[in-house]
Amino acid sequence: MKKIAPSILSADFANLESEIKDVEKAGADYIHVDVMDGHFVPNITIGPLVVKAIRPVTDLPLDVHLMIEEPDRYIDAFIDAGADIISVHVEACDHLHRTIMEIKAKGKKAGAVINPATPVEMVKPILHELDLLLFMTVNPGFGGQSFIPEVLEKVKQADEWRKKDNLDVEFEVDGGINAITAKECAQAGVDVFVAGNAIFNQPNRKEALKTIKSAAEE
Ligand code: DX5
Ligand code: ZN
Repeated sequence: MKKIAPSILSADFANLESEIKDVEKAGADYIHVDVMDGHFVPNITIGPLVVKAIRPVTDLPLDVHLMIEEPDRYIDAFIDAGADIISVHVEACDHLHRTIMEIKAKGKKAGAVINPATPVEMVKPILHELDLLLFMTVNPGFGGQSFIPEVLEKVKQADEWRKKDNLDVEFEVDGGINAITAKECAQAGVDVFVAGNAIFNQPNRKEALKTIKSAAEE
């Protein structure tokens, strides 16, 4: 079953409660929360306070994507705020295995994120420990960018490793996902589809979400 994770980066930040309820009603599976610190990426968004504020709004898993330097410093704060899945960038972690194990030890799902130019081999040694592997299909920092198709080769490679070792890690893509790119990603082995612009900036969120989901499940 393919999953859709609307990214609130493209939502109306003055009305996060109604925006989240809208996509939940539309059939969202996760709520993707983009945390940016203005250092790891050239944009600043939100922190634990906003995750805490939106936690009571939905029962959907909060899929928190940390685009920040030194994520170890904030794991506890995001867990206390209500994050269900915490994904850290391999490019921002000096001790990725330790960070992943710490998130899991605290009872939350742990994800690793790789940027478009980062070789997927970087996560091979810990693939069996991951609950989620997030492939950035844009350079992180902003919504509404164009999909980078070369990332599909990395998904296919990781899917071979996953099948060979019968791992239950979920593959997620993030950036430029719409009905067309979702179909290609699903064929490569993707399970979870993050979409910001293709859902929140559409007149009918329910239609938009359904279109992406059915394209992914074709
Ligand atoms: C970008 C974020 C993505 C982004 C996706 O750095 O990690 O989650 O919000 O937005 P779209 O779907 O508009 O490309
Ligand atoms: Zn994201």
